[in-house]
Amino acid sequence: MSDENKSCCHPTATRSSAPMWIIVVTLSLLFFGGLYLDSHSGWFDAKVYAPYNSAEKLEAFQPKSVAAAAMARGKGLYEAVCGICHGSDGAGKPGQAPALAASEWVTTKGFNRLARIPLAGVNGPMQVAGKDWNLAMAAMGAALSDDNLAAVLTYIRTSWGNNASAVTGDDIKKIRAEVGKSPQIYTAEQLKALPE
Ligand code: HEC
Repeated sequence: MSDENKSCCHPTATRSSAPMWIIVVTLSLLFFGGLYLDSHSGWFDAKVYAPYNSAEKLEAFQPKSVAAAAMARGKGLYEAVCGICHGSDGAGKPGQAPALAASEWVTTKGFNRLARIPLAGVNGPMQVAGKDWNLAMAAMGAALSDDNLAAVLTYIRTSWGNNASAVTGDDIKKIRAEVGKSPQIYTAEQLKALPE
């Protein structure tokens, strides 16, 4: 019986080292995985996805600030709603509309008079930057929201060399309430009687 035990070979656990190929594959997975993360996802930055591979590249797509975003909106609306007559360069058009660039109606300290022009319209004789006009403009901006009209006015007050203060939606809301729901078109005389 004991002889039998000796002759029989029980299986014994041996510790053989991991095959070389597993080590090579594991290391190269780690290496290429690292390269992949580096080049596709700004490492572990949760806000960054392919094809943008760094937070810096994404930054270029962000509007610079709320003010810059409002300016871009103001420019777009101006060009669509006002630029047809006043020109996309704000220089006005002979026989159609006076200039907004360097206009004393646009660069006023406040915008109480200015805001009433797109909200209610203006007609009759009017001097703009030393030139005489005698046409009519309807309430071209009355359909714009408070915020959008504010963006348009901020745009014309700070473009083409104009350098006046920004206008907010709350400012327009107040002036619109004063102008009323069915406003009377202004004359330049009437506007001048109001505070700037
Ligand atoms: C259909 C043409 C037309 C459109 C569109 C128009 N305007 Fe005018 N605008 C005029 C005319 C014409 C006058 C001069 C009215 C007069 O002679 O009494 C004027 C005058 C003005 C003035 C005062 C004079 C000056 O040049 O500074 C301002 C400010 C103004 N417009 C702003 C705007 C804004 C803002 C918009 C867009 C929301 C706009 N206008 C859209 C024709 C237009």
